[in-house]
Amino acid sequence: MQPFDDPSADPIAVFNDWLAEAGQTELNDPNAMALATASPTGVPSVRIVLLKGSDARGLRFFTNAESHKGHELHDNPVAALCFHWKSLRRQVRFEGSVVTLDRGETEKYFHSRSRGSQIAAAVSSQSRPLPSRDALDQAVRTYTEQLGAREVPLPESWAGFLLEPTLIEFWADGKDRLHDRVQFTRNGVGWSTVRLYP
Ligand SMILES: Cc1cc2nc3c(=O)[nH]c(=O)nc-3n(C[C@H](O)[C@H](O)[C@H](O)COP(=O)(O)O)c2cc1C
Repeated sequence: MQPFDDPSADPIAVFNDWLAEAGQTELNDPNAMALATASPTGVPSVRIVLLKGSDARGLRFFTNAESHKGHELHDNPVAALCFHWKSLRRQVRFEGSVVTLDRGETEKYFHSRSRGSQIAAAVSSQSRPLPSRDALDQAVRTYTEQLGAREVPLPESWAGFLLEPTLIEFWADGKDRLHDRVQFTRNGVGWSTVRLYP
């Protein structure tokens, strides 16, 4: 495991180590992260989504492209992510541009979900008004019957996104609020490192 305050560390490798550790200690959803987006005029919005992969290219998540966040990512393709693992008293932040994943990769992930989750994604007009809970349950029943034994087609609106980080910050709890903060910023192909006051 690489120390997070080593200037030569690969921040994505450090993050993946921390995530794996959180997988051992968090009650549930160690991959849950706050995703902040903003309108073109700078009005922010934030919600939790699940991380579905992190490597040298960036961090992947999946959602409905026609949701509130989907529209913001289309109109203003930048975002910030934040993980907080209470069990480890650690935080990791990311900032960067967001690109849409190709349909092949999105389809592969979509079909790895349970059939119920695929159907739920297909019938949910995420972020738009729903007349009643019954209407949603009915839509699930109707669509399930229509499908029969067929595979659930990838919904047009279901999309994968990749955040390409230009900034990654590690925060680790310290005694008397003397926390450690180390920030990595993209510099060409590598990263520059700076320690910050807590
Ligand atoms: C633990 C947790 C995980 C979630 N994961 C996702 C996810 O991966 N994708 C998603 O679209 N919404 C996910 N949600 C729901 C979102 O927080 C949010 O309600 C939804 O995406 C609509 O957001 P929007 O209206 O800002 O677009 C999750 C919620 C929680 C609490």
